[in-house]
Amino acid sequence: MATRNLSTLLPKSLLLLVFSAAARPTAAADPVKVSVYYETLCPDSRNFFTEQLYPVYQDLKDIMTLDINTYGKATDFPSGDSYVFVCQHGHAECVGNMMITCAKNLTQDEEVFMAFSNCVMAEFTAAAAGPQCAEQTGVNFAPVEECYNSVEGHRLLHEVGVKQNALEIALYWVPWILIDDVFTDAQLEAAQLDLRKVVCDAYTGERPAACTA
Ligand SMILES: *[C@@H]1O[C@H](CO)[C@@H](O)[C@H](O)[C@H]1NC(C)=O
Repeated sequence: MATRNLSTLLPKSLLLLVFSAAARPTAAADPVKVSVYYETLCPDSRNFFTEQLYPVYQDLKDIMTLDINTYGKATDFPSGDSYVFVCQHGHAECVGNMMITCAKNLTQDEEVFMAFSNCVMAEFTAAAAGPQCAEQTGVNFAPVEECYNSVEGHRLLHEVGVKQNALEIALYWVPWILIDDVFTDAQLEAAQLDLRKVVCDAYTGERPAACTA
C-alpha cells in the first residue's frame, strides 16, 4: 500500500515543483528596502541625498523600495489641535521637513517626488527652494504649500517623528540608514560611502548592469 501511495504521489509533487518553478521568473527577487531618516538642512543628509541616494535610485529603482523619512534630530509637542516642532537647524529646517513630508504624501509618482526632494537638497535652502524645484520637476506646488501651512502638514510630520522614535536602535546620526529594516554602524558607514555597492550586495536576484558599472 505504502509503495503504491508513494508512486502515485511522486509524479504529482514533481509536477507541482516544475509548475511553481516555471511560474516564477528567475529575476523576481525581493527589492532591497532602503530606509533613510534625514533632515533638510543637515550637510551630511544633503551629501548623502544628492551624491548617493538619488543617483543610485535613478539607476537601481527597479530593485529598490524606498522608505523616506524627513524628521531627523527634531522633537515636537502638542499645541492645541496641532504640533510645535523644534529642529536641529532651526525653524526653517522644520518647515523644509514638513514641505518634503507633504510632497511625499501628495505626489503620486515616486520618481517625481525623488526629483523634487533631490532638487530641494541640492539647493539647500529647505522650503525656500520649494516653488522653483516644484516647477523644475513637475510637482503641483499649491497643494503642497497649503499642506505645510496647515494642521494636516503638522500632523503628517508628527507621524514621521512617531515612526522614527519607534526604531529599534535609536537614531543618533543623520542620515540614518537601514537596509531591509536592519541597522548596523558598519552598514551606515558603507551606505554613505557607496550606497550602490550596499544595495547590489543585498540584492539576491540577478544583478542589473548598473551594479557592475
Ligand atoms: C496621505 O495622508 C493621508 C492622511 O494621513 C493618508 O490617509 C494617506 O494614506 C497618505 N498618502 C500617502 C501616499 O502617503
